[in-house]
Amino acid sequence: MKILVTGGAGFIGSNLAMQLLHDGHEVTLLDNLSSGYRANLDALPDARFIEGDIRDEDILDVVTQGVEVVFHSAASVGNKRSIDNPILDAEINVLGTVKVLEAARKAGVRKIVSASSAGIFGELKTLPINEDHPIDPDTPYAATKLCSEKECLAYSRLYDIEAVCLRYFNVYGANQRFDAYGNVIPIFAFTMLKNQAITIFGDGEQTRDFVEVRDVVQANIKAALSKGVSGAFNIASGTRITINSLVELLSDASGICPKVLYGPNRPGDVLHSLADINSAANAFGYKPEVSLKRGTRDFMDWAKTEAKYGH
Ligand SMILES: NC(=O)c1ccc[n+]([C@@H]2O[C@H](COP(=O)([O-])OP(=O)(O)OC[C@H]3O[C@@H](n4cnc5c(N)ncnc54)[C@H](O)[C@@H]3O)[C@@H](O)[C@H]2O)c1
Repeated sequence: MKILVTGGAGFIGSNLAMQLLHDGHEVTLLDNLSSGYRANLDALPDARFIEGDIRDEDILDVVTQGVEVVFHSAASVGNKRSIDNPILDAEINVLGTVKVLEAARKAGVRKIVSASSAGIFGELKTLPINEDHPIDPDTPYAATKLCSEKECLAYSRLYDIEAVCLRYFNVYGANQRFDAYGNVIPIFAFTMLKNQAITIFGDGEQTRDFVEVRDVVQANIKAALSKGVSGAFNIASGTRITINSLVELLSDASGICPKVLYGPNRPGDVLHSLADINSAANAFGYKPEVSLKRGTRDFMDWAKTEAKYGH
């Protein structure tokens, strides 16, 4: 299949591209490298890489030519980034998505699989969270991811294009680097590897549903191969863990026992999170396979190499 991955130099996009190339597909990556890394592309020599912006309609017209499936992973990612820059967040996540959809429609793309986020649910009201949970975004990022999802689904109703939106919970895994807007597992892991103290926001008893990136890749590919399926689906592990217990797992995986500091809760952070993943299982056979124990061990192994070479 001829495939376009937007955000292909990013954490999830690069893992997805790796599997797609391994499966023999012809893959184009479109990324402006704003939060993606050239180091991720080094491992993808068989992909065609176009450095460009999803808001550029001319580039989109070129990279969607002859494409059967678009994996739309490019976004301005994260609550903090969106609070710092809500206008850029909306331009990329809403307008950028509409531009990707428009180009895909014109090019006759069969399916778009778009990255959404569990952030759209806002604070937990029932547990576990299924797709019918009230939707109440707490941050500009969550609001734009919801808008992006709704645009995809509207296109699937209006035009001959299927759209699957995957509401990722907390994704972690190889190629997820430490940055100011980063997720908790890389922040803790790389801080531990520097033998520095880690900071937990709140009392550490908040829970998260962490899903390993290989399971997210599986979900994307199964969603793309499904015929006649459109809709929004939770993608998670279906299990949850406290942040305090996560630190213990990372400590077991690395043999490093970090000093732990506790700070104030952060605005926009939900207290609890746990997904019901039955809809994705029923619609396209999604079944997470990587346990948090194995995933944290593999992540620590990757992070050690990464810390050594300093990408
Ligand atoms: N990582 C998670 O836990 C998580 C959770 C929920 C949803 N998501 C969603 O998954 C997708 C991928 O996230 P990620 O964690 O891999 O983040 P990432 O920052 O590593 O990947 C995003 C990629 O998009 C690129 N990009 C950003 N703006 C662009 C633009 N205007 N034009 C072209 N490329 C652009 C970046 O350079 C980057 O490579 C995003 O849509 C994100 O909202 C991620």
